[in-house]
Amino acid sequence: MSTVGFIGSGAIGSTVARLAVEAGYQVVLSNSRGPETLVDKVAELGPRAAAATSEQAAASGDLVVVTVPVKAFPDLPATALAGKTVIDTCNYGPERDGHITELDEASLTSSELLLRYIPDAKLVKAFNNIFYKHLLSLARPAGAADRSYLPIAGDSAPAKAAVTDFIESIGYGVVDAGRLADGWRQATGMPVWGTPYGPYSNEKGEPAGEDAIRAALVLATRS
Ligand SMILES: NC(=O)c1ccc[n+]([C@@H]2O[C@H](COP(=O)([O-])OP(=O)(O)OC[C@H]3O[C@@H](n4cnc5c(N)ncnc54)[C@H](OP(=O)(O)O)[C@@H]3O)[C@@H](O)[C@H]2O)c1
Repeated sequence: MSTVGFIGSGAIGSTVARLAVEAGYQVVLSNSRGPETLVDKVAELGPRAAAATSEQAAASGDLVVVTVPVKAFPDLPATALAGKTVIDTCNYGPERDGHITELDEASLTSSELLLRYIPDAKLVKAFNNIFYKHLLSLARPAGAADRSYLPIAGDSAPAKAAVTDFIESIGYGVVDAGRLADGWRQATGMPVWGTPYGPYSNEKGEPAGEDAIRAALVLATRS
């Protein structure tokens, strides 16, 4: 089974890592403060987990998940991520990230901005539209009647295929939402963002099947 590297090991990174470990992957976690601060998380995840620097996590992953605040994009290890299939879970929030003109004006998606910092990565946007507690509790095996779906967006067909295999192996179906430039359809505040999986107040979430996710993507509009 292959290794998944994580740059960022907070709410969503740790949750994807947990689902990955349960599905049999090795995971390598990293954060901004150093591997010594991840000892407890690694212990929780068990023998398939390790901690490292961001460069090492990027280098070790057959697949790498970038799951940090958008304001951290300039710090990412571009050389180690060159040629890698990278999942981008990130959402832009000016209250946390500061204002970024091109994102405020919607002339660029946050994934396109990320690609400027890691230009040789094969980027796929995924997991950005689901609350981390729902992501944990709604995972279901393939074939389950109540399996939920997640949208993905990216420009590389092989990278999308690899990410689809990964997501399917950790408990979700996938809806192809187009190219990186189409990523706005699943961005913060869009109909497919959060809502299909139920309110945050219900930590268990509500399953959202393929039709619900496709319908929500179609409803996305921007001025
Ligand atoms: N929370 C959710 O339910 C959710 C759902 C979907 C998408 N998202 C998006 O996914 C991203 C991560 O969200 P989150 O909720 O997991 O955030 P979080 O809990 O605040 O975790 C952020 C992680 O990023 C790390 N980080 C920050 N700057 C870094 C840097 N320069 N280099 C390496 N690692 C760095 C942090 O490490 P330190 O703690 O050491 O600083 C931490 O591990 C955000 O863009 C968010 O909008 C969140």
